[in-house]
Order: sequence, then structure tokens, then C-alpha cells
Amino acid sequence: MPKRVRTAVFPVAGLGTRFLPATKAMPKEMLTVVDRPLIQYAVDEAREAGIEHLVFVTGRNKGVIEDHFDRQYELEHTLEVRGKTQALAELQMDLPSAGQTSFTRQQEPLGLGHAVWCARELVGAHPFALLLPDMVFKAKPGVLKQMMDAYEEIGGNVIGVEEVHPAEVSSYGIVARGEGPDPGFRITGMVEKPDPEDAPSNLFISGRYILQPEIFALLSEQTKGAGGEIQLTDAMQILIRTQTFTGVKYEGRVFDCGSKIGFLTANVVFALDRPDLAADLKRELRALDLGD
Ligand code: G1P
Repeated sequence: MPKRVRTAVFPVAGLGTRFLPATKAMPKEMLTVVDRPLIQYAVDEAREAGIEHLVFVTGRNKGVIEDHFDRQYELEHTLEVRGKTQALAELQMDLPSAGQTSFTRQQEPLGLGHAVWCARELVGAHPFALLLPDMVFKAKPGVLKQMMDAYEEIGGNVIGVEEVHPAEVSSYGIVARGEGPDPGFRITGMVEKPDPEDAPSNLFISGRYILQPEIFALLSEQTKGAGGEIQLTDAMQILIRTQTFTGVKYEGRVFDCGSKIGFLTANVVFALDRPDLAADLKRELRALDLGD
């Protein structure tokens, strides 16, 4: 039986420059898809997968994230007095229990690999999940849960992958596919943001990982890769020499909410799935008369 995964890491230190001015004073992880912040989707997904300890790697101006996962007594009291029991119950359900969250800081924006490395003391010598909150999924069960099911059978390192249009491979980490049927196949290599002609496949790393703690020693070498940043993909590409990596082509799809198109599409798709919004939104969209 592989060692149980209890901890999840959420890198939330990014500057969010693609969403300025919205993200000048507000963390990008607090942007909402319909009425839930991006970070809440990632936390919900981790809790659904059985995660008990949530580690946030934050940076300057990210205090609101910590507040978001705290009690808000004044608000709770007001909801109670006004008889809004449903809203109150939902708020309480979204909240991890006392002592389940930890916060550490990435003091400089040196890349995803560096952000993950900043969590090493909080994670310790255990396997852990990693969720990039920009990436929001429509999937049932959640993508991390699907990966966890695969992990419990095979152990090692597990990476969620999805097909991407060949023109977009240079925006992501891309894996080389080895043997094994879907959904779990052996990964034989990976490369960060390749040119389309060098990409080993069109399967991209969509922001969900289960990793073994040996990754931290490799990250501590702080070697810079694509874009001059310390890349997680480069450390995984070294770890693959001694440990197995399985790609899980999960059921569902991702919305890259780090891009405006992904973010806007996610808002429409998630709203169309909401009984309280779908009919009205459809009517508004039809009234736009978009032609083609
Ligand atoms: C990071 C990873 C990349 C992955 C992507 C998913 O890139 O380095 O491998 O495909 O997240 O969002 P970033 O988006 O930080 O440039």
C-alpha cells in the first residue's frame, strides 16, 4: 500500500500580472468563477480527495486568502439574525477545520519549483498533493480524487494530464507518453513549455500532481530553466530516472483561469450549470445575438 497522502500544497504567491488592474491589491486566487474564489475550488477538490492538511505558499498582499479560510463572526452572526441559514451553512462547509491550514511565504517570485520547495518543512518526508489554483476543473469526481484512486493502486508520482491544441503546447509542461492504457499510463519524460515542433505529445500537465518528497532535494539545487525560473517540471524530469511517474488522463476538463479566455469561459460554463442562474443567463446570451 502506498503511503497515504494527507497534505496538499497550494502555490498562491504569483503576482497575477495578466489580470491587472484587478489584481493590483487583490490576489488573483480571489478572482471568482461565478461566486466562488479560484482558491476555494482547489481547496474543495483537495478536501474531496481526503486531504487533511492544506499548505499555502503565499507572498506579499495575500493576507486576504488567510482571512478567507478563517471564521467571520460578524458576518455569521448577521446571517443568523436574518435567518439566512442556508448561506450560513454553506459558508461553514467551505471552511477547513481548525488547525488544518498552514501558511508559509515565498519571499521572491523565482518560479513554481521554488514555490513548492518553500513548502518542504511543512510537508516533511511524506508524499503530497500539489494543486495550482489557476486551473479550475469541471470533473466528477474531482480530478485529484481520480488521481488519488490511481495513486492508491500504483504509488509513485502521479500527474493529471489533458489534451491541448498543438498550438498551445508552448504554454505548458508537456509529457512523453509511455506504455499503459488510459487513464493511467507511464510517463517517460517531460518538458516545460516546448516549441510545438519539439513537444513529445499534446498531453499537458494541467496543474494537479501527487509527488514524492524526494522532489525537494532536487528543487533545492535551484537550477533555472524555461523563462529563467526554477521549474518544477525540470526537477520531475530528473526524478523520473529513479521513480515512476504515471499520467492520469482524467474524466473532465480544465479551464485555465490564468488566461482571460479560460477565466471567462469558466464563468459561463459554471453559471450554466447553476439552477439559480442557467435559465436567465441563457436568455441573456441569446439576446446578445452573436451571429456566428
Ligand atoms: C505551470 C507548470 C506547467 C503547467 C502549468 C499548468 O506553468 O510549470 O508545467 O503545465 O503550470 O497551469 P505556469 O502556468 O506557472 O507558467
